[in-house]
Amino acid sequence: MGSKIGNKERVIAPTQNDCIEVRGARQNNLKGIDVDLPLGKLTVVTGPSGSGKSSLAFQTIYAEGQRRYVETFSPYMRQFLDRMDKPRVDDIRGIPPAIAIEQSNPVKTSRSTVGTMTEINDYLKILWPRIAHAFCPSCDREIRPETAQSIAEQVFRHFERSRAERSRRRRGGQAFKSRCKAQR
Ligand SMILES: Nc1ncnc2c1ncn2[C@@H]1O[C@H](COP(=O)(O)OP(=O)(O)OP(=O)(O)O)[C@@H](O)[C@H]1O
Ligand SMILES: [Mg+2]
Ligand SMILES: [Zn+2]
Repeated sequence: MGSKIGNKERVIAPTQNDCIEVRGARQNNLKGIDVDLPLGKLTVVTGPSGSGKSSLAFQTIYAEGQRRYVETFSPYMRQFLDRMDKPRVDDIRGIPPAIAIEQSNPVKTSRSTVGTMTEINDYLKILWPRIAHAFCPSCDREIRPETAQSIAEQVFRHFERSRAERSRRRRGGQAFKSRCKAQR
């Protein structure tokens, strides 16, 4: 459990570069290692079993991010939150609030993903339809919502065009061909 002494107010120095700076990590078998992890990038920690990957990723970096996040709540709120042990590390700078997904999936369904477990999916479901542009597979024209106004304008444009086509045909031009067969 997080110690009472560890909760006292302190100033966290901002990071120099855009990265998480871990200094002197000694959790479990880690040998006082220093690591810089770039923020906003995907970092992979690999190595043999028992080499200390989880000790670094979960028990050090995530534990510290979680601990600092919990510290932002009032002492009353803190009693309801899960708290992790303070990691054995000299200093960590530039650490944002963290979430961690471990290798064992507690939800046994094929439809459960990182997105559903973290509930990020709920936001993505709102985001995708708003930023997406759909195109007709037959004529490549963009699919857009129509209003009475926009439909009326298209009808007028169409008759303008057919009138022009008719007069061209009378002068021996090609027959009018719609761009989109699928729409008929
Ligand atoms: N809670 C713990 N208390 C004491 N020692 C631990 C604890 N968790 C891990 N260790 C020890 O720390 C060392 C590193 O373990 P760690 O789980 O970090 O390795 P790992 O690289 O994640 O391995 P794996 O690939 O099997 O997940 C091991 O010797 C392990 O026995
Ligand atoms: Mg592990
Ligand atoms: Zn079309």
